[in-house]
Amino acid sequence: MSSSELINYIVKPGGSLRGEMIVPGDKSISHRSIMFGALADGITKVNGFLEGDDSLATLKAFKDMRVDIQGPDNGSVVIQGVGMHGLKKPASNLDLGNSGTSMRLMAGLLSAQSFDSTLTGDKSLSSRPMKRVTDPLATMGAAISTDDGKAPLCIKGNQKLKAIHYDMPIASAQVKSCLLLAGLYSDGITSVTEPGVTRDHTERMLKAFAYPVNVDGNSVSVEGGHSMTACNLDIPADISSAAFFLVGGCIAENSNLLLKNVGINPTRTGVIDILRLMGGNITLENERMFGGEPVADIRVRSSQLKGINIPTELVPLAIDEFPVLFVAASCAAGQTVLTDAKELKVKESDRIQAMADGLVILGIDAVATDDGIIIQGGEIHSGTVESYDDHRISMAFAIAGLRAKGEIIINNCANVATSFPGFIELASKAGLDISIKA
Ligand code: S3P
Repeated sequence: MSSSELINYIVKPGGSLRGEMIVPGDKSISHRSIMFGALADGITKVNGFLEGDDSLATLKAFKDMRVDIQGPDNGSVVIQGVGMHGLKKPASNLDLGNSGTSMRLMAGLLSAQSFDSTLTGDKSLSSRPMKRVTDPLATMGAAISTDDGKAPLCIKGNQKLKAIHYDMPIASAQVKSCLLLAGLYSDGITSVTEPGVTRDHTERMLKAFAYPVNVDGNSVSVEGGHSMTACNLDIPADISSAAFFLVGGCIAENSNLLLKNVGINPTRTGVIDILRLMGGNITLENERMFGGEPVADIRVRSSQLKGINIPTELVPLAIDEFPVLFVAASCAAGQTVLTDAKELKVKESDRIQAMADGLVILGIDAVATDDGIIIQGGEIHSGTVESYDDHRISMAFAIAGLRAKGEIIINNCANVATSFPGFIELASKAGLDISIKA
């Protein structure tokens, strides 16, 4: 399904979520598996790769830099690593579609290559802030020109990068990862300190590929000049995709759903913590390690949710899950307050405004604030809402249908293909009455 098609969802009210499901592979880890596999010495075999438009954009970009990549074939990808200095100048611009992770991480990596490159993206990606990566990269000696801090990024090759220490002003795994990737090529030790804990997939993957990395509290450092050794990677199911069904299972009547093989890396499990604080009945079964990442089967049952003040330290740990958490808040007794979440305004859409707009249309008292949202739990009515071309807004409103009093129509849902191919099929199988509006 191409993201340029016009696709609107129609969701009929009610339903229960039951049975077992496996959601697609983790998006963050899928991107990194291609990048690290390409730079390693040897052949990397990946299982569970997310065949969504975002991670496929990363895969295509590395093919364009003449890395031999077979697949994806049913989640399996085989990468012939070219080594740290083996990427070749692409014949044209690298189009990264909707994917902020691809653009920000690759900005770091490509700043250190011997060739020039240009990174472009779709309308949403071209409106997202890039100075958060280009400013510290410039301090390292990178030469990147932008359109007033936005894409396209024109990166000049053959710059000698020097290591820096960077105190990140915002908690962002993309910024951290970008600078660490540039640091692999820099003279000396590059270190990054983050103001709050963010996802650590880059650090874990560096270790898996035998690249020395040092983690000390909220600081991570790498020394430039080492190499990576290929390995086999098993990618767990994406907790950000599972989140839709964790909320759905809590809010729908008579639900009992098992989400299998989900990544429960502690830097990603804010959604479970927040739902449990709200009274969500969520249990972890069969906890184990899988490809260097902790995973579990997660069981969710119908729950009586109550509104809470969301602890600010959980915000970076649930950063992608807020659209659907706002649906949970809409179904909870009392008020839910989110603060310290300004970052949500610069995701694929302004996720605070997009959700507030749609929830109000559906009859919920939701007020966007300067850095978050205040939601009073209530009854969800029928209505037509906009996704603002944002995959997670589309899926969040689809889940709202489980507790709605009437039909919900969601406009412009083609972007669901960026992170969750097969969403309609899986959701329908579990018990949501969802289809593409004719
Ligand atoms: C990601 C980091 C997060 C997240 C994004 C994926 C990553 O972005 O929102 O979906 O893979 O590093 P920020 O680092 O900008 O918060």
